[in-house]
Amino acid sequence: MKIAVLAGDGIGPEIIAQAERILLAIKSDGLKFELEPGLLGGCAVDATGEPFPEVTRQLVAQADAVLLGAVGGPRYDSLPREKRPEQGLLAIRKALNLFANLRPAILYPELASASSLKPEIVSGLDILIVRELTGDIYFGQPRGIEQRDGQRVGFNTMIYSETEIRRIAHVAFQAARKRKGRLCSVDKMNVLECTQLWRDVVSETAATYPDVSLSHMLVDNAAMQLVRDPKQFDVIVTGNMFGDILSDEASMLTGSIGMLPSASLDDQNKGLYEPIHGSAPDIAGKNIANPLATILSVAMMLRYTFAQEEAALRIEGAVGKVLAQGYRTHDIFEPGTQKVGTAEMGEAVLAS
Ligand code: NAI
Ligand code: MG
Repeated sequence: MKIAVLAGDGIGPEIIAQAERILLAIKSDGLKFELEPGLLGGCAVDATGEPFPEVTRQLVAQADAVLLGAVGGPRYDSLPREKRPEQGLLAIRKALNLFANLRPAILYPELASASSLKPEIVSGLDILIVRELTGDIYFGQPRGIEQRDGQRVGFNTMIYSETEIRRIAHVAFQAARKRKGRLCSVDKMNVLECTQLWRDVVSETAATYPDVSLSHMLVDNAAMQLVRDPKQFDVIVTGNMFGDILSDEASMLTGSIGMLPSASLDDQNKGLYEPIHGSAPDIAGKNIANPLATILSVAMMLRYTFAQEEAALRIEGAVGKVLAQGYRTHDIFEPGTQKVGTAEMGEAVLAS
């Protein structure tokens, strides 16, 4: 098995170095794979002029999984849009047909006071948002800004085929089946036909999963319920745009952006795994970035691409343990805990 490792820019190389240590420790425990480094984003622009060069395209096409740090930085802000590092990210998702974006929002008990909500509302929070990643209004045609009747008019098209809805619904039902067995599908069927189809197809798919209880919620209500009573949710499935917004909202209930991993999967369980944060240029090169989101992304890789649930749980357990022992990077530091750097946090996870 082959894992392409794209460290990227800013804090990317620092956090990826810690995730690699964890992967290598797992490897010495008997799981067989090769790590192959590649360039994506600003570092690729520097080396080749392209954010997603052909060699990287070939590398990730042949890999079983991709581990990504983060891309981008102010150094690249003046480049034309198609040459910017973030274009590399969109291109790699498209090239690998990564339509299912899984974003868990888990609150570790030790970080309850870091959440933006009261402890009694968030303690024990463990939800999974499944966001469709390759369709919806972000990609629909026609789109643009035009002159009509003497004024500018902007337009985008919200579009989903039943095939696209069904395949993401299956991912969500299967995830729910392995968790608490509750799936909430989020749409806006009261005003948008496209999401009426979404609701219909998700409801039809439910017949295959009698063990999962399905509910539906309108997106505006879902946004409210996420901050009113987030623990009512187990798995949420929704389209690209609603998922973009709701997953950012949910992630903030858990304390720090430096804690949150993600997986983007195709229909063969090939996946790209990355922390949800960016390249954090303000703290790059200082050994203070939190590597836990990237380490937890490795756990997701082991779970979803390599079906190594036990190894995934071991990593997640080790992260819980270091938090319980009081280790904190600067983003989650509170009086009474022990502040450590990026490498020391990686070391602590390894030792657990
Ligand atoms: P960011 O997520 O990089 O940083 C936001 C804030 O969170 C900063 O104060 C940063 O120091 C902090 N932060 C982020 N990750 C952290 C970590 N692991 N540990 C401790 N603190 C952390 O978002 P920002 O500043 O908007 O974007 C910076 C660059 O990253 C931009 O070029 C942006 O386009 C790019 N970006 C890339 C993403 C990716 O590669 N997937 C996602 C989001 C942004
Ligand atoms: Mg977003």
